[in-house]
Parts: sequence; C-alpha cells; structure tokens
Amino acid sequence: MDGPSGSGKSSVSRGVARALGLRYLDTGAMYRAMTWWMLGQGVDLADPAAVAARCGEPVLVSGTDPDGPAIHVDGVDVAGPIRESDVTGSVSAVAAVPEVRVRLVALQREIIGAGDIVVEGRDIGTVVWPEAAVKIYLTASPEARARRRSAEVAGTTAQAHQEAMARRDKLDSTRKTDPLSMAAGAVELDTTPLTLEEVIGEVLRLVKERT
Ligand code: DC
Repeated sequence: MDGPSGSGKSSVSRGVARALGLRYLDTGAMYRAMTWWMLGQGVDLADPAAVAARCGEPVLVSGTDPDGPAIHVDGVDVAGPIRESDVTGSVSAVAAVPEVRVRLVALQREIIGAGDIVVEGRDIGTVVWPEAAVKIYLTASPEARARRRSAEVAGTTAQAHQEAMARRDKLDSTRKTDPLSMAAGAVELDTTPLTLEEVIGEVLRLVKERT
C-alpha cells in the first residue's frame, strides 16, 4: 500500500490486515524512528554524509500487530515521539539519504519475507517488494488529506497541514533514490469521496479477486 501522507494508508492497511488476520508493517515509522534517533544524537540532518555515516548504529525493532504497531530504537519505545512535529519536519531529509534506504529496505524485506502481511509506505510496490500479490496506490485530494490530518492532530488547521504536506510531497517525490511513484501493476484508489469502511471494502474485494 503506497501513497502520500493523509491518503488513508495507515487506517486502510491496518483495517485490511485486521479483516484478513494478517500482519502489518508501517515502513514510514521506521524512517521516523531513524530520524528520532538522529535528532537525539545531534546529527546535522542537512548533511547527507553525516546521516549516512551514522545510520547503521541504531537498533530498530518493528512490531507487526495491526492493533498496536510497536517500534523500538535501542530498546526505547518511540511510538509516541516519532509522531511529534520535530520528527515530522525532518523525516523527508533523512529518508532521502540512499544509505538510510538501503538499511531500512533490508530490514523491511526480512520482516516481509515471513509472508502474510500488509505493508504501507512510499516504495513498497516499486522497490521493497515488487512481487506483492496486490499493489495499491492510495490518493486523495490535497484538501481531503489536510482535513484528515488536522482532525488527527489537536489544535492544528487544515491549511497549515496542506502547506506542510505539499512541501513533504515535493521532497518525497522528487528525491533521487526511490521517489514516491505508482508501481507497475498497482491499482490506484482515490479515497476522497469514500469512507474508511468503503475503502477497506474495495481493497478486500481486490485482494479476493487477485489472490
Ligand atoms: O508515512 P509517514 O508520513 O509516516 O512517512 C514518514 C516519511 O518517511 C515520509 O516523509 C516519507 C518517508 N517514507 C519513505 O521515504 N519510504 C517509505 N517506504 C515510507 C516512508
């Protein structure tokens, strides 16, 4: 399940995993956890060479339970801190560093290799697991994406989210290594006019049809 932030990837992926009794992996959380660690270490995130030099150090452990996806860095539970604005504002820079991607993609493939899993990210269908049985590319209008995010984060406006998302989209889809793009063979699903239940229902239908 690939797509930009606010397209509904997390809620849809978790709902589909729950409905089918599958595991679930949030690869964005791994890039966020790496970013959280770099910030704590005082690494200069504007310097890709500095990020590359340190990215092999933290021990990242990702859980795969769709009801409570856990993520630990060096034994510390970072599920909460990785959603804070300092991490959100810096993660695109870290995710653009090729050495970071090589390391995290290898970890992701280890987890996915055990099978029976719904994986969400930006490059799952294109790079991480192109042989996936079902590939979905979720989209939504910029207004809908910003509205959903502002409903999730207390005290924030849709307009502020729309501007921040446009900045992140640009970074994520124009970076040199594995930019956000639709995979060959993926089904594009525009979630703008749909409820969460409707999107999950449509994905379950595609899974049934293709597996
Ligand atoms: O899905 P998210 O907002 O938690 O993702 C956080 C950042 O990580 C986002 O800026 C894009 C990046 N990312 C990525 O480059 N590749 C992935 N497979 C998942 C996320």
